[in-house]
Amino acid sequence: MQLAKRVLAVKPSATLAISAQAKELRKKGENVINLSAGEPDFATPDYIKDAAINALKENFTKYTDTAGIKELREKISLKLKKDNDLNYSPREIIVSTGAKQALYNALMVLCNPGDEVIIPAPYWVSYPEMVRLVEAIPVVLPTKNFRIEPEKLERKITKKTKVIILNSPANPTGVVYKKEELEEIAEIIVRHNVHCLSDEIYEKIIYDRIKHISIATLNDKIKNLTILINGFSKSYAMTGWRLGYAAGNKEIIAGMKKLQSHSTSCPNSIAQKAALAALGGNQSEVERMRKEFEKRRNFLTKRLNEIKGIIFSEPEGAFYTFLSHPQISDSLNFAKELLEKEKLAVVPGIGFGKEGYLRISFAASLREIGEGIKRLKRFIENS
Ligand SMILES: Cc1ncc(COP(=O)(O)O)c(C=O)c1O
Repeated sequence: MQLAKRVLAVKPSATLAISAQAKELRKKGENVINLSAGEPDFATPDYIKDAAINALKENFTKYTDTAGIKELREKISLKLKKDNDLNYSPREIIVSTGAKQALYNALMVLCNPGDEVIIPAPYWVSYPEMVRLVEAIPVVLPTKNFRIEPEKLERKITKKTKVIILNSPANPTGVVYKKEELEEIAEIIVRHNVHCLSDEIYEKIIYDRIKHISIATLNDKIKNLTILINGFSKSYAMTGWRLGYAAGNKEIIAGMKKLQSHSTSCPNSIAQKAALAALGGNQSEVERMRKEFEKRRNFLTKRLNEIKGIIFSEPEGAFYTFLSHPQISDSLNFAKELLEKEKLAVVPGIGFGKEGYLRISFAASLREIGEGIKRLKRFIENS
């Protein structure tokens, strides 16, 4: 069988091997601790679920506007104003099947085959593969202390550069960019007239009272070049509902709408009503989950500091710690052995474009985190 080149070019996920192995061990009755999750372990808040139940009862079960129902786009527009001080009209917003579809569609709309997309590393696993799927070229930008160095970014820009991906708060590093850093990055993007795909999905999961700043807020020029991506998966514990959105220049959004009309038609109608309730309700549940993540981050940091040789910086946002240790040279092998010997599942750094590291998720209970780090410590000490 001969599959299309665009699919053959996509690498299978290095991380999937670990989660498949973890599931297999669990099935056999092994006591596996899973610190590899990429989603909140909390249930979707009840008021959101109730809105979905009502949508079903009211037979809100048909195709909707391709870009998402107007009420939801209006609510997102209000949210962007209130939380981010950004003005986007509902025509400049598209609701998609997860932030993932919004990212993918934006790349489809912006990139021609052979165009280059700059991806700072460590990166979220899907960015390079999405870029390959749209037949563009991922250009990996190494970072310093996981932060973009503006002069190195500028050196990577060529005539073929179309997009720079920015992810703050970041998966897997927990980095949150400060205003001054964003200003330097924005200045380069504007000067070279490229686009910025700003993935802000972890916006609400942020610590130490740091404030999330969207690069689009800096000035009108960068706003016009930015496609802001956000969604409901992480902030509202709604990963399975598959709802995200993009905001940007109306021509880009119209292109994404055209694409969506021929691929998924529209986002899920019931999930849209749930998302409307999520944004409309009181945001105390979001804050409750954030506080819980902060408590877990503090606990994890303390426990990791007890392991000799571990190097990491405390995450400022998202729910991952990205760490290294002299014993982690081949991260995939290390993660496999850790799972086999200690029944602890973590994600190897190689999947994020950084060898010698592991990603530990703290979207798990304090008990699981405590037990997981105990196992990691024992594994390192006995190796
Ligand atoms: C950085 C980043 N962007 C986007 C997504 C996808 O979010 P969604 O569930 O809305 O598709 C994830 C999910 O893991 C992520 O980590």
